[in-house]
Amino acid sequence: MTDAVHVPFLDVHAAYRELRDELDAACRRVMDSGIYILGPEVDAFEASFARYCGATHCVGVANGLDALHLILRAYGIGEGDEVIVPSNTFIATWLAVSFAGARPVPVEPQESTYTIAAAAVEAAVSARTRAIIAVHLYGFPAEMEGLRAVASRHALPLIEDAAQAHGAERAGRRAGTLGDAAAFSFYPAKNLGALGDAGAVVTNDATVAGRIRLLRNYGSAAKYRHDTKGVNSRMDPLQAAFLAVKLAHLDEWNARRRRVAQIYLDGLKEVADVSLPTTFEGILSAWHLFVVRHPRRDEFAARLRRAGIDTIVHYPIPPHLSPAYRELGYAAGSLPVAETLARAVLSLPIGPHQTPAAAEQVVECVRRVC
Ligand SMILES: Cc1ncc(COP(=O)(O)O)c(C=O)c1O
Repeated sequence: MTDAVHVPFLDVHAAYRELRDELDAACRRVMDSGIYILGPEVDAFEASFARYCGATHCVGVANGLDALHLILRAYGIGEGDEVIVPSNTFIATWLAVSFAGARPVPVEPQESTYTIAAAAVEAAVSARTRAIIAVHLYGFPAEMEGLRAVASRHALPLIEDAAQAHGAERAGRRAGTLGDAAAFSFYPAKNLGALGDAGAVVTNDATVAGRIRLLRNYGSAAKYRHDTKGVNSRMDPLQAAFLAVKLAHLDEWNARRRRVAQIYLDGLKEVADVSLPTTFEGILSAWHLFVVRHPRRDEFAARLRRAGIDTIVHYPIPPHLSPAYRELGYAAGSLPVAETLARAVLSLPIGPHQTPAAAEQVVECVRRVC
């Protein structure tokens, strides 16, 4: 009798197991330092992550949602303003705009890349538009060259939601340097994941970085002097110490993800009804997720589950149809690309601790159930 196949979607504990000694030492160092808010661990990680991205500034915050929200506030965006966002993103992109007091204006993505592109964004610009947020969804860096041209024409900041794209590149430039300011999430399942919540803003703009430093810490540069109405969104030094350990492994771990992706791309290219992600010369996806499309997605996922393969849908309900956004009044069918994608997308297992053998098992099961 052979063992039953089980390929988990992602094993986050495996990351801890691989780096246990270094992470435990980092934890002890922080505990022994007696510094539990900001301080040298946060400064050191900020400097390393800015260097990694090829940017001049990184400001650590509490999570990716705050990173996005604080970027918008740093640009002075608020009540009565509009911000262009993709129709097919994790709801945090929209919530950041709402929390700033502005209105998210959705733009449909290109089906080939799942990201927004220049022509559709240009058509959505109005007199109230104050910024464009491009999301590097699933780790694929959006077409920033075209978006940059639109942003420049209308004098708008171009913001990257790089929560899923640590280490992704376009023409040799890393996510985090492809727009005016970028938001990263270090949620544990991300390509660079903390052991809890954390996030960061990366930018070459010293003014924006300075404002975010104020905003994340009660609007205060000096103790008990408050220059603006800030929030408490400081990166935890414990998470900074863990992230510094893991950053040294990011490129190797992304290379492991790429190997898994290549096994899928090679092994699934002629499987009926399964549409694979498109790859492009000069664009390096971070392969945060490996997303396929299937016309009978739920049945396909159920068969894979029975075969021992875990999958997840990113995301089953687009933000405009989520009850949270009922007040915007979108009817079903109003953003058909996002809605069609939400019905068809399925993420196969991928991660830095998934072995090539497990990836081959996924290929075999997909071929079998199709
Ligand atoms: C595209 C996108 N934007 C923003 C976020 C928000 O990040 P966080 O969960 O750290 O707040 C996430 C992750 O959860 C994300 O995937």
